[in-house]
Order: sequence, then structure tokens, then C-alpha cells
Amino acid sequence: MHKNDVVKKILGNRYRKMPKKQSAKAFAPANIALCKYWGKRNLELNLPTTSSLSISLGDKGTTTKIQLLVSDTPVSDTKSYINHDQITFNQRLLASADPVAQRMSQFLDLFRPQPNFVFKIETRNNIPTSAGLATSASGFAALVLALDQLFDWQLGKKHLSILARLGSGSAARSLWNGFVKWYRGSRKDGFDSFAEPLADIWPELRVGLLILSDQEKMISSGQAMQQTVQTSPFYDAFLKQSPKDIKILEKAIAQKDFHTFGKVTETNALAMHATMLTAWPPICYAIPRTIEMMHCIWEERKQGFALYFTQDAGPNLKLLFLQPDAPIIKKLFPQIEIIAPFS
Ligand code: PMV
Repeated sequence: MHKNDVVKKILGNRYRKMPKKQSAKAFAPANIALCKYWGKRNLELNLPTTSSLSISLGDKGTTTKIQLLVSDTPVSDTKSYINHDQITFNQRLLASADPVAQRMSQFLDLFRPQPNFVFKIETRNNIPTSAGLATSASGFAALVLALDQLFDWQLGKKHLSILARLGSGSAARSLWNGFVKWYRGSRKDGFDSFAEPLADIWPELRVGLLILSDQEKMISSGQAMQQTVQTSPFYDAFLKQSPKDIKILEKAIAQKDFHTFGKVTETNALAMHATMLTAWPPICYAIPRTIEMMHCIWEERKQGFALYFTQDAGPNLKLLFLQPDAPIIKKLFPQIEIIAPFS
């Protein structure tokens, strides 16, 4: 099954119809995985090898505005219209050869009513892009929400989650606030691989963004996943452990057991990075400062402080702690940005 077949099945007679509105605008939060998605069982449809669990970052994420325009490029020149979408990313108009523009345009091809139409997109992130802060997740989720409004599809969140997944796997989880679980599913067409929010809320929970570098990542998460799945001898252990981690995390969330929550989140992230370190060629997203900060966190924990971290496909760390400790955290890490996911 191809992406187009999934879109056709979801949209039915709304497939490739003209928009109902002039323009639309939507916001989606970034999300941080507590139990990671690392590996695909289907590359084209971004179907994961494991279920995953995340926390969304409230008002930190992506806002996207979208319009559909008639292209001035001849329709017969089929190649050229594809990259003529006008995509402004963080106030910068992207060249059509830009990898971000190409990825978005390819996704937009799934919804273009006719070849001679182009999309005008203005998208803006309020957190650093491509530094392991999952902005591709909020980016594709905001884009799908904006498309839903523009075309007036009126899709339910389950179908929006499936469409967002076709853009970027973790985007399936960026349609809600709070804790979100994305199911691995087992169907070949991926219709059972979508996300859903958990009912639990944890108002005292804090996520601290410890930005150690805003450099673009050295290897994309998609490429890194493949390399890991294909070559790491530790990958099977990660696959086996993941469902157990989700179960423990869900229970810890329900019982507000912060120590278990932090421990499993941190171990799950380190296990994911262990699969990368043992891949060939090896992948290491950490920079010296990342390791230095890990030691600092472990030292604080030895002193009895309830502080844990997680790390994604980048050098930055996301710290997990509870609200009463926020002032101490600010002192320890003056550059930290603290997010209250439930306020
Ligand atoms: O959705 P992608 O392809 O950007 O992959 C995200 C991978 C991690 O952020 C490392 C883990 C996750 O579950 O978000």
C-alpha cells in the first residue's frame, strides 16, 4: 500500500476536491517521547516497530498558515510544479531545492487537487528546529490540521493522526496536549497505527528544555533508525523492553509515581541511544556537553534530588522534574526553559 492509497481511503469522495476556504491556520504542540519510537516496520507509511508514549509541550510547537493558489508553471511540465509551493519557514522563503521544502511539497502532493495548483505555506516554530526537539512532529501535525480546515474535510482525530504519521512518524502524537500513546498496530495498511491521548493529567509535572546546541542534526532520525534496525546487535533487546516500559510508565503516570516515571523514561532513552552507538557506522547524537550534563544530573540524583532526563535525535536534553523543584533547577541550569505541559 502507498501513501496515496491511505489518503484516498481516508478522504473518500473528498479526495483531491477543491478547498472550501481561502486560507486556514492551525497550531500543533511539539511532543517529547517518554517511551521512544525508534524503527519502522514499513518505511513508506512510517509504521513503527513499537508503540510509543509522549508528553506534549503545551504552547511550544508549530503554527502553520496555508492557501491554495493557481500555478503559473505549465501543467505539461509535470516535474516543475512540484517544487513551486511557496514555503516560508520561520520567516524565510525556502528555495525549492531545500530539503525541508521538498519534504513538505512531497507530502502536499498527496492532497493537491490538480497538478497546476500550488500551496502557499507560512510555518513558524517557537522552539529550535532540528535539534532533537521534534519540530517535524509539530510541523506535520499543524500542516494536517490546517489542510483539514482549508478543505473542510472534518476528519476525526484518529484519521488526522494517521495522515500526520505519513509526514513524520512522531507527528501522529502531536495532535493532543498531555500524555499521548501511539499504537504500533499490526495491519499492513497502518489503519490501526494512530495515536490517542491518555486521560491522566499531572499538573505538577515539568519538562525543562536544556538546549546545548541549535546546530542541525548530523544524520536524520529516519536514516539513523534504519541504520540501527539493520546493524545494531542491541536492537532486539530494545524491541523486547519497549512494551514493558510503556506498561510501567502508564501505571506510574496513573499513580503519580515520579521516581518510576523518571527512571523508566531515562532508561528507555539511554537504551535507544545504546542501539545507535552499537550500529554501524555508529551514531552518536551527544556532544561533550550532553555527557557533562548527564553526569551533573546523576550527581544531583545521588544527593537525593528527583531529576531525570530524556534525549532524542539531537544533543539536547529534556529534564523531567516536579513543580516544587523548579527554582532549584533554574539555579542549576540557568539557561533552561521550563514548560508546564498541563497549564
Ligand atoms: O518522527 P521522526 O522521524 O522525527 O522520529 C522521531 C524519533 C525520536 O524523536 C527520537 C523518538 C520519538 O518517539 O519521538
